[in-house]
Amino acid sequence: MRKGIILSGGMGTRLYPCTEVISKQLLPVYDKPLVYYPLSTLMLAGIRDIMIINSPNDSDPFQRLLKDGSQFGLNITYSVQHEPRGIAECFRIAEKWIGDDDVALILGDNIFYGNDLINRFNRATWNTSGATLFAYHVNDPERFGVLELNEFNDPIDVHEKPKDPPSSYAVTGLYFYDNKVVDYAYQISPSARGELEITDINKLYMKNHDCKVEFLNRGIAWIDTGTFESLSEASTFVGTVQRRTGMMIACPEEIAFKQSWITEETLLKSAEQYKKSDYGKYLFKIARGF
Ligand code: G1P
Repeated sequence: MRKGIILSGGMGTRLYPCTEVISKQLLPVYDKPLVYYPLSTLMLAGIRDIMIINSPNDSDPFQRLLKDGSQFGLNITYSVQHEPRGIAECFRIAEKWIGDDDVALILGDNIFYGNDLINRFNRATWNTSGATLFAYHVNDPERFGVLELNEFNDPIDVHEKPKDPPSSYAVTGLYFYDNKVVDYAYQISPSARGELEITDINKLYMKNHDCKVEFLNRGIAWIDTGTFESLSEASTFVGTVQRRTGMMIACPEEIAFKQSWITEETLLKSAEQYKKSDYGKYLFKIARGF
């Protein structure tokens, strides 16, 4: 079985004062909180056991919003990252909860959209040994973890925010790992910026020839919403697609209902709760078989 972690830690200081009293992942991206997007991504990968790791002050609003997850057919648990000690620390925090299972990690500010994603996720799910990373061609690779590829386009290394990027392929904030990731999280030490780097975990998998990469090509959108510009671009993107198609991006109730994870009764309960908003009206449409 594969469990999923959404990492929503960090202080969001780049978005102050907006994130002084509210977590970045609870800010709206068009018509729903940012955390709905990574949550939906894990759901589309068929993952139903989810741990949300947030910073100490954020636990309460997250739990009020997402509860135990049963309204989405999920089992959601919560944990805290007390200090921003890096992405890879989440595997130490979640060690007991992960147990013997495989795990996927998604960063709470990463938005994925595109029809072919489900095929990529299925391939990653079938790969029960080693790691699967998802790479995306970007204009500004120096802002990300970047793949180094050999002449056959196979990944040979990954570099965190390199000044001189070896390729234009960023490693996105979605990672599928086997259970070895927990051991690896204890093998690495903090980087110069004092963080346990996810890139160091990926380097270990690559060194052991145990790392696959799915290249997310044209037709798939990946937005990491670390700045006001990218947050507002993401909102515009979601609004444009939704208004044009009449279909929502990242509606967890819809995903759950279409996979028969929740009953019509559960769906209608959420619809009733949100009936004054377009979100609630959309849920009624889904229940009517739209
Ligand atoms: C983190 C990772 C980086 C990855 C990026 C994706 O960067 O360290 O390798 O490419 O997420 O969003 P950060 O968001 O911490 O700058």
